[in-house]
Amino acid sequence: MALIVAHCRPGFETECAAELEAMAQAWDTELTTEIPALGGLVFGRGNVRALAEQMDVKLLVFTRQWFLALEEVELDPKNRVDGILKALGRSSGAALFIESSDSEPGRELQALCRSITAPLEQALKKAGMLREGDASQKGSDQRLHVLFLDGSHALVGYAPIARSHSEPMGIRRLRMPKDAPSRSTLKLEEALQEFIPRDQWPHRLKPRMRAVDLGACPGGWTYQMVQLGIHVTAVDHGQIDPRLMATGQVEHRALDGFLFKPERRVDWLLCDMVEKPMRVAQLLAKWLQNNWCREAIINLKLPMKKRFEELERCLDTIEKPMLDRNISFELQVKHLYYDREEVTLHIRVLGQG
Ligand SMILES: C[S@@+](CC[C@H](N)C(=O)[O-])C[C@H]1O[C@@H](n2cnc3c(N)ncnc32)[C@H](O)[C@@H]1O
Repeated sequence: MALIVAHCRPGFETECAAELEAMAQAWDTELTTEIPALGGLVFGRGNVRALAEQMDVKLLVFTRQWFLALEEVELDPKNRVDGILKALGRSSGAALFIESSDSEPGRELQALCRSITAPLEQALKKAGMLREGDASQKGSDQRLHVLFLDGSHALVGYAPIARSHSEPMGIRRLRMPKDAPSRSTLKLEEALQEFIPRDQWPHRLKPRMRAVDLGACPGGWTYQMVQLGIHVTAVDHGQIDPRLMATGQVEHRALDGFLFKPERRVDWLLCDMVEKPMRVAQLLAKWLQNNWCREAIINLKLPMKKRFEELERCLDTIEKPMLDRNISFELQVKHLYYDREEVTLHIRVLGQG
């Protein structure tokens, strides 16, 4: 029986399940979720083929990656390839992802995932089930997925390339830049890659644009903007990395981020202040209503309990005034790989009407 398999950060399965159920409810489609003991995964059963027709990873916060599994197969450890081929039936795809969950036991299966890649690809190509070529050029095509649950059990199926994540398990691994002031820099780098299509960077992230970074210190987010040639007003009572000041692109203002007002509209608002999420959501709503920024990336630190519900309340606080004033916008929220107990939100104001 087919099921939807969703990957999430271990510890966030409840939120991932809640959002899948909310999605199904919004589309009036039957879905019940199950959280397997392995961690980092949620399974959905019900009218899953109908859901898989519309489901898009970009519309989900806690779901990093997903696919439609056709069946769970028991594999002979001496010949896993044949078992997978048989289970895939007549399915074919333009790419193949071999995955495990992001939990402790799942990570132990990564060596197996790597070692089976070449023989499985070869066998799939020989059987005409894996088409050669650049998968990114085949936006309307599907990708085959194999998810190892342990050394002798896997879920096999497929996902639409255009509506699933471009990386296995939805994890975009980034290298820590040597001269960045903090690891937080990876959160913004991942957010930019996730939310802004590469071909739009030249006009949305261009040199001499202006950004305000609230809660900027020691400067990991400011660093990302500086690398792009953007000028940053870094607002924080803390110490900013002197190497950033030396670029001449950064102005440090030792002020409260909740009271700061820009002198004129800026291209980007960034905010990574450690604060109650609702307070940060209200601050973003204020910036948007005053038309102080074109785009914003903010981090919302989630509470310990009712994280999904609190996020919904925050989103309502941001979206409602925009909808009431007939201002069109694009909004994306993601629990990124480099996020911990937090999610990252991007909003772009498109204009009135
Ligand atoms: C998680 S750190 C930011 C890290 C930063 N994004 C980076 O990449 O280096 C949070 C920062 O928010 C600052 N902060 C907290 N409340 C603030 C407020 N009300 N106004 C300005 N800064 C604040 C803290 O001083 C701290 O430096």
